[in-house]
Amino acid sequence: MSEFILKNGKSLQYRKLQQGDEKSLSAFNVALSEKSRTLFMPHGYNNETLTKVINRAESGEDAAFIALDGERIAAYWFLWWFNTPFPVLGIGILDEFHSMGLGKQLMHHLIDLAETRGCETIELTTALDNKAGQALYEKTGFKRIGVVENISGDGKITEEIHMVYSIKPGVVPPPRKHDSPV
Ligand SMILES: CC(C)(COP(=O)(O)OP(=O)(O)OC[C@H]1O[C@@H](n2cnc3c(N)ncnc32)[C@H](O)[C@@H]1OP(=O)(O)O)[C@@H](O)C(=O)NCCC(=O)NCCS
Repeated sequence: MSEFILKNGKSLQYRKLQQGDEKSLSAFNVALSEKSRTLFMPHGYNNETLTKVINRAESGEDAAFIALDGERIAAYWFLWWFNTPFPVLGIGILDEFHSMGLGKQLMHHLIDLAETRGCETIELTTALDNKAGQALYEKTGFKRIGVVENISGDGKITEEIHMVYSIKPGVVPPPRKHDSPV
């Protein structure tokens, strides 16, 4: 296990998402504030969907991680389609761990991973009113390229800002549907 150190000195261990994490991942979703859950609902949390999410993480199609505060998941972050040049990034942190520098460390973790893997871009979408997310993404080098329709894990379709981090200069990711792989 590796760890992240927060601004208050607390350390959180982290590891890859794996079989057996279904219940704690579902509990993580429930523990988010309503606002955070609206901003971060990457996929459904029923058993069938969680099995698919974990299978994809274990097979390497996605790269997915959890940070632990004791038994409880404090953060969940991932690169979907990590086996392609154009992965899609997602990041969610329990509210009590916001503004402690964790988001920035999670972003650098995923960017390093994508660069090492030889990916060409990293994409994400974020809600029009997600000021914290937009600030974090711009500070870590993502650029706004437009507004797209995003299909959330609960099936809701909303307009979101589409952002791209460039690894291979000049490469534009091919058009895609903005929904989850599961
Ligand atoms: C968005 C989120 C990941 C940010 O993570 P975080 O750990 O709170 O962010 P950090 O403490 O690492 O802050 C990173 C930078 O963003 C800025 N930032 C953080 N929250 C901010 C806010 N509410 N308003 C403006 N800027 C903000 C900080 O100033 C910081 O910059 P600095 O290091 O130069 O000071 C976190 O708030 C979260 O999980 N929110 C709910 C779910 C969500 O929105 N996920 C993203 C969906 S697209």
